[in-house]
Amino acid sequence: MRKMAVALLLALLPGLALGAGGGQKLMDAHVDVTDTASLQRGAKYFANYCMGCHSLKYLRYNRMAEDLAIPENVLEQYLLWDGSKPHEPMHTAMRGADATEWFGAAPPDLSLTARRRGADWVFTYLNTFYRDDDTATGVNNLVLPGASMPHVLWRLQGVPEPVYGEAANGERHVTGVKVADGAGALSEEEYHRVTRDITNFLAYAAEPIRAYRERLGVWVLLFIALFTGLAYMLKREFWKDVH
Ligand code: HEC
Repeated sequence: MRKMAVALLLALLPGLALGAGGGQKLMDAHVDVTDTASLQRGAKYFANYCMGCHSLKYLRYNRMAEDLAIPENVLEQYLLWDGSKPHEPMHTAMRGADATEWFGAAPPDLSLTARRRGADWVFTYLNTFYRDDDTATGVNNLVLPGASMPHVLWRLQGVPEPVYGEAANGERHVTGVKVADGAGALSEEEYHRVTRDITNFLAYAAEPIRAYRERLGVWVLLFIALFTGLAYMLKREFWKDVH
């Protein structure tokens, strides 16, 4: 019975991974939520490029500042420019109703996206916008076809061109994206770093306690090992006279 359950789980796992990416191979974001410098940069990019539309309603500014070692004056100058207070959750200034009218879909809250979709999905999403003149935004996306989000980082990356491949049934479809050299302000490598920082930040936001939990876990395991040793020695001491 147990063997069957394990086999079933193993059979399902690849399906789950594929399901999340819609069949598209995902890029590896190399998330590291202990990389504070990367998280700080990610928070800055998020405030500059994403918060106009997206909120992080489960994260408070002061909690983030504490976790990411952001000094109070930096928090106030760069992150609270819209008049928010440090103890408030990170709401967006945009109203849902306006957003639906402008984009056809309200930009979702991104608090849990890195957990629901996976960090690699978010990283791939930010890297696979491509030119598509048939959409209202002028772009489309490989992992979220028909996305109503504009390519907000186009100044940095440039607008990638679609790369076509042939599906099994002979139909032409987009299988990749390609950015021309010099299309944006950043090189491909620099753009990867920026999007990785944003992804890293969203992975942190999805579970602010993760770095602490992992650090604590090591101590808990050490304690259990030590305690087991002590308990064993104690048992030997107690049973010495019984035998
Ligand atoms: C101009 C408004 C706008 C800005 C700015 C914006 N987005 Fe979006 N975003 C949207 C909209 C609208 C959607 C919904 C797309 C859809 O479902 O068609 C979306 C969807 C997403 C999704 C997919 C969520 C999901 O699970 O479906 C992610 C991830 C995302 N945005 C990340 C970002 C990041 C990171 C930034 C900043 C670099 C950003 N967005 C900036 C409007 C915006």
